[in-house]
Amino acid sequence: MCGIVGFAGTRQAAPILLDGLEKLEYRGYDSAGLAIEGDGEILVKKQKGRLRVLREATHNGEDLPGVVGIGHTRWATHGEPSDVNSHPHLSYNGEVCIVHNGIIENYIELRNFLISKGYEFASDTDTEVISQLMDYYYHGDPTEAVEQARSHLMGSYALGILFRQTPDRIYAICKDNPLIIGIGEGENFMASDVTAILKYTRRVFRLSEGELAVLTRDGVTVTDSYGEPIEKEITNVTWDENAAEKGGYEHFMIKEILEQPEVIRKTASPRIVNGTINLSLKSISDEDIRGIDKIYIVACGSAYHVGCVAKPILSKLCRLPVFVELASEFKYSDPMVDNKTLTIVISQSGETLDTYHALKEAASRGSRIISVVNVVGSTIAMVSEDVLFTWAGPEIAVATTKAYSAQLIVMYMLAMYMGRVRGVATEADEKELIRQLEALPDAVEAILEKKEQVQYLASLFYSSKDIFFLGRNIDYALALEGSLKLKEISYIHSEAYAAGELKHGTISLIEQGSLVVALCTYKPLKEKLVSNIKEVVARGAVVIALANEGDTNIEAVADHVIELPEWEELTMPSLAIIPLQLFAYYVASLKGCDIDKPRNLAKSVTVE
Ligand code: G6P
Repeated sequence: MCGIVGFAGTRQAAPILLDGLEKLEYRGYDSAGLAIEGDGEILVKKQKGRLRVLREATHNGEDLPGVVGIGHTRWATHGEPSDVNSHPHLSYNGEVCIVHNGIIENYIELRNFLISKGYEFASDTDTEVISQLMDYYYHGDPTEAVEQARSHLMGSYALGILFRQTPDRIYAICKDNPLIIGIGEGENFMASDVTAILKYTRRVFRLSEGELAVLTRDGVTVTDSYGEPIEKEITNVTWDENAAEKGGYEHFMIKEILEQPEVIRKTASPRIVNGTINLSLKSISDEDIRGIDKIYIVACGSAYHVGCVAKPILSKLCRLPVFVELASEFKYSDPMVDNKTLTIVISQSGETLDTYHALKEAASRGSRIISVVNVVGSTIAMVSEDVLFTWAGPEIAVATTKAYSAQLIVMYMLAMYMGRVRGVATEADEKELIRQLEALPDAVEAILEKKEQVQYLASLFYSSKDIFFLGRNIDYALALEGSLKLKEISYIHSEAYAAGELKHGTISLIEQGSLVVALCTYKPLKEKLVSNIKEVVARGAVVIALANEGDTNIEAVADHVIELPEWEELTMPSLAIIPLQLFAYYVASLKGCDIDKPRNLAKSVTVE
């Protein structure tokens, strides 16, 4: 969580830092702050609230002179969102200044130690101990101070560090949190994510644990944990900068929803080679796939929901037991994972700390690992044995849509590929999946073209207090995502239930006028669902059903029907999710919510 940036050059730093922070606001937006090397002192300006508050307070940064500085946008963990808890954090004497992404787990111990040495603390944060600790070890050599302090830090961090007495440079270190260094012409950058510096340079590298980078306007030096200089390989980023802009849409979320036909095409097509699925796995061979005896899928949030959709598909096509686990639980569950297990890790950002820890846990027990990741060069992508990238492009809205859809595509293809290798799925099955994948973009487009119907339904129900989502089998997995999407951006209380489970407790919540969204796309259990709809209708519920066109059984029991085309079961989730995303979007829009940056959330969650 949190985003950090740094700039060392000859231009005024503050406007450039604000620009970078704007691209990182998805990582948290409780407060923002800047620290600039000034004339004999480090100038700090920080404020609770969105970045625009800081922009206004500094006249777009113009009030802060200076050509070297660091910036931060916060997702609060230790200490409430407030001016004083905002980053950057200065040591009490003004010598050292820090921006931090991550959590220092032993900060209480360090804080007590420093208090015993006469240090005074202003904030409730874990971060403040870092600047104070570096000050404690500072006797004229910043490198020495950084290294000494680092040896005591437990937890995760990406840090930008200023020392008052070396005003031409930024020091940077990281562990378990990303830190990108950008190389410009007579100016250099650091940031949590490449999107923050893409406007200024495309030449980047990633700092690794144990390394120390020193940025000045003239260059960047990197040393390893022995203090030896090292050469980092510079990558040229090819991402289209415009892909991270709103392009005329009111919100990134709707732009990203509408991009889905193209995203599906981009993720699927390159993997269809000569009429077969080719995943180009580097490490995991066909023989390895044949030797696997169970599959774990670990992920968080919407990526976990993709795992829930993929579970029955993988299990059916590979004839293997498949377990889907929340990454935050998996790590501490003493999982039954060994070298015959395949662990599939799903993550849009590739930076989610829980997911990363789960991956490490599985790998430490010998599991083979395939990760499904959107951000190239992210931590999870770097440490995975094999990576299948979802080529969804940069996703900015906190609530994921296009990355979710791209993840589904990769999971269908992985399931079919493994099923073929294991001799369970047939050539005809593979051809059929390819046919569906090729037809999906147009089918999604056709659903998007009818978005006004969903908008109309949203206008009828946006003032609901509670909304329930029901489904069976894959429809239940989709219901989980539909419900999450709605609650995270519209703040309406919502829950998803396996429709058959309703009668064991939850049905007591249904009362006159309760809105129930019933997902009725999974044909083998449709009749059962009709009964479940009748049960809630009998208790006063109003029902919106998602069903195939012309389904008279559903029309007979539901108040409103969102029609989906006749489609094969395997890839139906890619169609059914679209109206659910649109419904959440339009409800939140009618409620006037901050759709791209919902309260209390962040897109990249790098804390446990
Ligand atoms: C956050 C986001 C969710 C996302 C989850 C997992 O909570 O708000 O939209 O699904 O993290 O993120 P990942 O980057 O690992 O897919």
